[in-house]
Amino acid sequence: MVHDILIWPDPRLKEAAKPVAAVDAAVRKLVDDMFETMYVAEGVGLAAPQIGVLSRVLVIDTSPRQEGQKPIALINPVIVASRGKVTWNEGCLSVPGEAEDVERAEVVTVRALDRDGHAIEIADASGLLAIALQHETDHLDGTLFVDHLSALKREVIKRRMKRLKAEIAEGKQPHRDEEGERPAL
Ligand code: NI
Repeated sequence: MVHDILIWPDPRLKEAAKPVAAVDAAVRKLVDDMFETMYVAEGVGLAAPQIGVLSRVLVIDTSPRQEGQKPIALINPVIVASRGKVTWNEGCLSVPGEAEDVERAEVVTVRALDRDGHAIEIADASGLLAIALQHETDHLDGTLFVDHLSALKREVIKRRMKRLKAEIAEGKQPHRDEEGERPAL
């Protein structure tokens, strides 16, 4: 089932999501819904709070843009190691049409449970996958990429998002940019 993606600012995007107690059928359905929602929105990553579910669940698929990758679903992910620094031009499905440079760790290692509830580790992820892992785990703590920007830039983007939400509320078809270079996460 495809869900509506919350657009920032929204109080639900600012809350810390709760750990998943058990990977059961409801969690697997959530994962499947999140993949479906992410693909329809042409994103490469989505965190559960973006569809209003405050659980520590995220999905990522960088495979169209990064060789050798496949779709991943992570439950209760934790970044256990990181190194290096890289600046990446990031977008977000909850901040449509916007992209800004954000400084992130270059390489990260993440531990989590997979869709079957098995413990997994993604060791030394780099490139877009490393960015997506950091961007999506940020979402689970109520942090968006705009929170990494200057207050001035954030306010400018917030005004545009409020206008966009008003247009959607009025039933106007919002203008959407063609898919560009920047990944929506
Ligand atoms: Ni995002």
